[in-house]
Amino acid sequence: MLLHLSTWSDVEAFLERSKTIVIPIGSNEQHGPTGLLGTDWLCPEIIAHETHKGGADILVGPTFNVGMAQHHLGFPGTISIRPSTFIAVIGDWVHSLAVHGFERIYFLNGHGGNIATIEAAFSELYAEASFGRRPAGFALKLRNWWDLPGVMALVRQQFPTGHGSHATPSEIAITQWAYPDTVKSAEYAPQIAGSGPIREAADFRARHPDGRMGSDPSLATPEAGEALVQAAVRGLATEVEAFGREPKIL
Ligand code: NI
Repeated sequence: MLLHLSTWSDVEAFLERSKTIVIPIGSNEQHGPTGLLGTDWLCPEIIAHETHKGGADILVGPTFNVGMAQHHLGFPGTISIRPSTFIAVIGDWVHSLAVHGFERIYFLNGHGGNIATIEAAFSELYAEASFGRRPAGFALKLRNWWDLPGVMALVRQQFPTGHGSHATPSEIAITQWAYPDTVKSAEYAPQIAGSGPIREAADFRARHPDGRMGSDPSLATPEAGEALVQAAVRGLATEVEAFGREPKIL
């Protein structure tokens, strides 16, 4: 079930049989000369929506599509929020869902730069409960789509070299499969981009002039993307089901 295509009464009925919701979360940021700005939120959204389409009885919430992208602000089209804002907004999403009875909130993430701040948001939410000496009433889980069972092994097999860490062929392949009309090509020089530290936006653009980090996006194909989505869908369905079976939430 997709929350944005449901009514409040559909959600009320869903809560009778499940207290779990999946939130795709990512970032709107440059992905090199050929990667879509939405890549990091599109990948988890595509995987979550395909899991729903495949028949799993899951509820997928709206995609949280702007995240920790300050280092990409040297490239037009990037939109970022700061960590304190991200933590506050994640908190408000969680509280909104918890008010209605959701007890297990599973964030399917598509951006490595979000990880530390999502974890910090979880810590803030649990601390609110602990300082108030009361149960939180919810359990939170973060999973990066590439860490779903079976996915990284497939990535290594598909892209033994040139995968890198930003504008990777795996994430671009997924968007190519889902949005074939958007497939783009470019001449890359060097073919595999260099790597380096991540600091502020001006430093990032100076180190990574075309936006890639360690990757060769020309390796991406829609077929590779389809295989990755299929593996991720299997992993997500299994994990969400197991999360829902965890012992009762206080
Ligand atoms: Ni990305």
